[in-house]
Amino acid sequence: MQTFKKTIAKKISEAVPQLFAGVTLDSETVDKMLEYPPDASMGDIALPCFKLSKTLRRSPVQIALALESAFEAKNEAEVSAKALNGYLNFTVSDAALASQTLNAILTEGEKYGSPDIGKGKTVVLDYSSPNVAKPFHIGHLGTTVIGHSLRKLHEFAGYKCVGINHLGDWGTQFGKLIVAFRKWGSREEIEAGGIDKLVELYVRFHKEAEDDPELNDQARAEFTKLEHHDPDNIELWKWFIKISLEEYSKTYRQLDIEFDSYNGESFYTDKMPAQVEKLREAGLLKLDDGASIVDLSEYNMPPCLILKRDGSTLYPTRDIAAAAYRHDTYDFEKCIYVTSSAQSLHFAQWFKVVELMGYPWYDKLVHVPYGTVSINGAKLATRTGNVILLKDLLAQAIEKVSQITAEKNPDMDEDKRAKIAEEVGVGAVVFYYLSNNRIKDINFMLEDALSYEGNTGPYVQYTYARTCSVLKQAKGLKTNSEFKVTAPEEHELLKALSVFPERVLAALEAYEPSYITRYILDLAASFNRFYHNCQILTDPDSEVVNTRLALTEATKTVLGTAFGLICLKKTEQI
Ligand code: ARG
Repeated sequence: MQTFKKTIAKKISEAVPQLFAGVTLDSETVDKMLEYPPDASMGDIALPCFKLSKTLRRSPVQIALALESAFEAKNEAEVSAKALNGYLNFTVSDAALASQTLNAILTEGEKYGSPDIGKGKTVVLDYSSPNVAKPFHIGHLGTTVIGHSLRKLHEFAGYKCVGINHLGDWGTQFGKLIVAFRKWGSREEIEAGGIDKLVELYVRFHKEAEDDPELNDQARAEFTKLEHHDPDNIELWKWFIKISLEEYSKTYRQLDIEFDSYNGESFYTDKMPAQVEKLREAGLLKLDDGASIVDLSEYNMPPCLILKRDGSTLYPTRDIAAAAYRHDTYDFEKCIYVTSSAQSLHFAQWFKVVELMGYPWYDKLVHVPYGTVSINGAKLATRTGNVILLKDLLAQAIEKVSQITAEKNPDMDEDKRAKIAEEVGVGAVVFYYLSNNRIKDINFMLEDALSYEGNTGPYVQYTYARTCSVLKQAKGLKTNSEFKVTAPEEHELLKALSVFPERVLAALEAYEPSYITRYILDLAASFNRFYHNCQILTDPDSEVVNTRLALTEATKTVLGTAFGLICLKKTEQI
């Protein structure tokens, strides 16, 4: 549609000085005013003329009528215009829409819609980043799937992407875990039970420390030993990380996620002193009750804490060191951080500190926050033990889909069913999660996510499978012929296909994977209306059949590309 918008904008911009003496209007301004009317009977593209009232000093109705005549005079074949109630509504001809959209998709294939803005540029994405030896619960689902989707979107736009899992692998919790392990743990049990056993030890430590506060002193002492590279503690710490990573990897594999780097917080230990020195030299550090802070009151924020009273570093200190390291290593165009909105202040604070330090790349740091998750109405709270582990949620979804598939296809063999169950179960969770604007709080309802009828992952995967099965039944597709559009459903489907490139760009600009999920729903709905109302394979006119097959092929391609952008699997059968 963008090309048609451009053509329309150019025509209007040319007509304005002729119709309204002395006024000029550049076509880019007009382009931004053009809208897609929600109701198809209003045309494909509309110009709300009230937006021009001030410049042209006429009523919207007068403007619409005047501009309409300009289009009529030119006797346009591609785009026709009609004035209605102060709007100028444009309709793109079937032939132009079909040949432009279908030819583009059928020749560009999976590249169709790629904005090609990232060539030669690198984007660093910091996401998922769980805290080692603490539960990987569904609170992490957001950062994991939003982060991964943003990565896919940037890759699609041609950026080189570096995905970093900034593991929470340093801090006093390791002192606690070391004490707990030596008192109550066993190697065999942990080797067998994995991260769950580590979490148990961690929880037990907190319980016992309530009655025996001396344990906390021991934990601090063990962490200090770890900081001084005590070999036994280092060995244990590495092992805890290994156990945790094995667990995370299973979930990442299910989600089809890989990282380029697992450099967690500990990696920056030796990189912090230089940054602290720089802060001091710049005169930014202030002593506050023994701690070193950067005063941000001028910017209406509480101070950013750099060093504790005992000289140890803090979360912002590590983030500043990590950003400087990443800039030197990757020379990023953007460094994106995906975390819950609970951390928004933290990012605003240390981004400001980086700016005050004089780093010219301060404005390349981007925080992408998201809202909280509750599940079936219940808020999650780590402390009360009301956590749902991500792996359990995914396992439940897979199990349910397996049951549904078995009911639908009792004869399907086991392996196939297991594969479908995993693709659809995991996809349902991901799709449901990414369906809303990221900043909104989510109440996760597994039943809803798994419904085959709602606006869900299974529904859109089902639609994808439908396109595959139609194409399988077809004898072959001639793609280079003239297209013959005969039904309104075809026009609507073409329109949906043609706006994909714009939606991709908008999703990138807003860091909003939900624009892609919503696009997928629109496209799936258009395709299903087309599928139900048009005979694809059995129409007597072979040119019509050919056009419908091309539409089906194009839908399959674009759905497939869009699925890839939100980590949804392409299911040929479901
Ligand atoms: N580990 C942190 C958490 O779970 C998230 C880290 C986000 N990344 C960063 N560079 N601070 O809350």
